[in-house]
Amino acid sequence: MGGRDRDGSISFSTRTSRVMWSRTGLMADGVTHVSEKAKEDEKVEDGMWEETFKSHTDSKPNGPSSISLDFSLPGVENVYGIPEHADSLKLKATDGGDPYRLFNLDVFQYEVFNPMALYGAIPVMLSHSAQRTMGIFWLNAAETWVDISSNTAGKTVFGQMLDYVQGSSETPQTDVRWISESGIIDVFIMLGPTPTDVFSQYASLTGTQAFPPLSALAYHQCRWNYNDQEDVAAVDQGFDDHDIPYDFIWLDIEHTDGKRYFTWDPHKFPQPKDMLQGLLDKRRKMVTIVDPHIKVDSSYKIHNEIRSKGFYVKSKDGGDYEGWCWPGNSGYPDFTNPEMRAWWASMFAYDQYEGSMENMYTWNDMNEPSVFNGPEVTMHKDALHGNWENRDLHNLYGFYVQRATAEGLIERSGGVERPFVLARAFFAGSQRYGAVWTGDNAAEWDHLKISIPMCLSLGLVGVSFCGADVGGFFKSPSTELLVRWYQTGAYQPFFRAHAHLDTPRREPWLFGPENTALIREAVRQRYALLPYWYQLFYHAHHSGQPVMRPLWVEYPQDTATFSMDDQFLLGRDLLVHPVTEEGARGVTAYLPGKGEVWFDVHTFQKHNGAQNLYIPVTISSIPVFQRGGSIIPRKARVRRSSSCMEHDPYTLFVALSPKRFAQGELYIDDGHTFNFDKQKQFIHRRFSFANNALSSRNLAPGSQFTTFSWIEKIVILGASKPSKATLKTPDGKESLLEFEFDTSMSVLTLRKPGVNAGLDWTVVLQ
Ligand code: NOJ
Repeated sequence: MGGRDRDGSISFSTRTSRVMWSRTGLMADGVTHVSEKAKEDEKVEDGMWEETFKSHTDSKPNGPSSISLDFSLPGVENVYGIPEHADSLKLKATDGGDPYRLFNLDVFQYEVFNPMALYGAIPVMLSHSAQRTMGIFWLNAAETWVDISSNTAGKTVFGQMLDYVQGSSETPQTDVRWISESGIIDVFIMLGPTPTDVFSQYASLTGTQAFPPLSALAYHQCRWNYNDQEDVAAVDQGFDDHDIPYDFIWLDIEHTDGKRYFTWDPHKFPQPKDMLQGLLDKRRKMVTIVDPHIKVDSSYKIHNEIRSKGFYVKSKDGGDYEGWCWPGNSGYPDFTNPEMRAWWASMFAYDQYEGSMENMYTWNDMNEPSVFNGPEVTMHKDALHGNWENRDLHNLYGFYVQRATAEGLIERSGGVERPFVLARAFFAGSQRYGAVWTGDNAAEWDHLKISIPMCLSLGLVGVSFCGADVGGFFKSPSTELLVRWYQTGAYQPFFRAHAHLDTPRREPWLFGPENTALIREAVRQRYALLPYWYQLFYHAHHSGQPVMRPLWVEYPQDTATFSMDDQFLLGRDLLVHPVTEEGARGVTAYLPGKGEVWFDVHTFQKHNGAQNLYIPVTISSIPVFQRGGSIIPRKARVRRSSSCMEHDPYTLFVALSPKRFAQGELYIDDGHTFNFDKQKQFIHRRFSFANNALSSRNLAPGSQFTTFSWIEKIVILGASKPSKATLKTPDGKESLLEFEFDTSMSVLTLRKPGVNAGLDWTVVLQ
């Protein structure tokens, strides 16, 4: 097959001849057409039918079974995706180095800017040029390697090839080779042509982002470990004493009775329901960890049931597969078995998981799965899931763990409540079951920086709900790094502080009042913006569009945006350039869009796109810009937790385009049930500013959902001064609104329109 086309169409050739496979990498030349050479390699190569790595032997009962396919992408210089790697957003050419590896592993202290495999694997790559965006979905859950070569590598400036720009006749081209250890070639080509099209095409194959409970988008406080109930109560109170909102406090493995998941340490957590009730009274929640390795212990109910039902993964000789993990000797439930998953889900019922309550949610860690004494700290490839070797489906194990857990949380509420489950390992489609995080990062500036491309890469392939441990998991952050990490994390989808057991405590108030104030401010900015986050997640759920986006997604022809790792968009309308350099005095943000304008959300100063804007910064700066032409809802009164803010009023920030136009939305539902879907119980409004009038129109006809929230304030950026502002409602009533006008910044503030957020209204400026 083949074909070359300057507009970026794809050509590919199958190369399914045998690839020598080895734990240490590809043997021989990886893939070859040359049958003589292949034969030769087959003859000489050890390890084709059995391979030994350190003390581990892989029995390889099926012999070599690798498959491969090469793709040529004419006209393409930029490829993205295939998470999870701690690397730049734009993938690098791998010639001469290791390919990008996709194999879910529990990696100890991972390195940044490295193609090594990490915890999750999504075999989806996007190609992008100014002409078109396309996607390749290589549906294979075996260990996979991706090699990238490009005739422009090393010759580009801002994603644009120098020779090409200067009129060279050579067409840029990227070649991609996919190699998997087993399975069949099953590839989906998503033809775009726009990024939006690719996202919906991919969503039609694997589903969209689960719509999280609103509170899960707020701030999460975690560490390994909160020691006991008193500790939980003290930390909870600490947030109130320091006036910092939070929604979830997390318990790591030490909360269990000897690492037996679904249980509580009887001394440290003797009354879990009292603890949960205390949180519930403050409208806060908890997450407890439930890992997928099960202590082999005949007095442990969970183990006994799994064993007696035959639900454990089997070793190659047919016995239950056992490995070493936190509890000591452990079994690994076979989550690929639907019956096992149904049973696991039933364990989350309130009468099964003793001490659990409706405000308690779940964290699935170590679901690669992690096997401390296994090859590369994971399961043996010849372990058996029914008739399938782990080799064939390795990268899917974590997906099924998260799925079974999410289904359990749904079932325990009779199908009413939306679940929240965080998982470390993932595969294509994991977005349907919850959130992921980037695992055990370190308290280093590079790890803060890499959190941006890591989450952007995930967003491109469907997983919007991503975050990195705020502060860094290993080591201890300097105060400056901690503050900068809060400021960055406040603008990333999953916002959770977490730290290793051995690190000193780092609750936000432990670094002196000035730093507490800085962290408070970052967290408060997050809470104020929750209405916008929620609306973005509604759209991610609805149509598969990422929440956190590289700039090129919205400015696909702007080559200056093709390889940016230090800034991103939230939806279409907010541009964030967090400060991630130590000792920074300024950052240079790129504001895209020739003819567009951007407003600094803190100062309201207007800037033109497209330009590189130098912004002097202090330790309190979080550079964020709102696109002229957009309307963003916020809640100005930040309270103890997001649900305490449920009925609070909205402030609308209307940022006018140069043509004095703006549009935006507001999405409201109950924040936690499936009623938005099953009963269409939600409010969805369209705000439009045109011809000096701002109106709110219904996008959800037929919905009976109502809200107590009202519109408290409207701030119009880039406005001119009116002589009067009149609020009109459909009942024919008109009232004059008080307003203020700031001439130096051209900001018009309309006070107390007072109209219910679910109703039609218009404000006319004259
Ligand atoms: C590894 C996880 O990545 C980390 O977040 C967690 O704290 C430890 N396991 C202990 O459960």
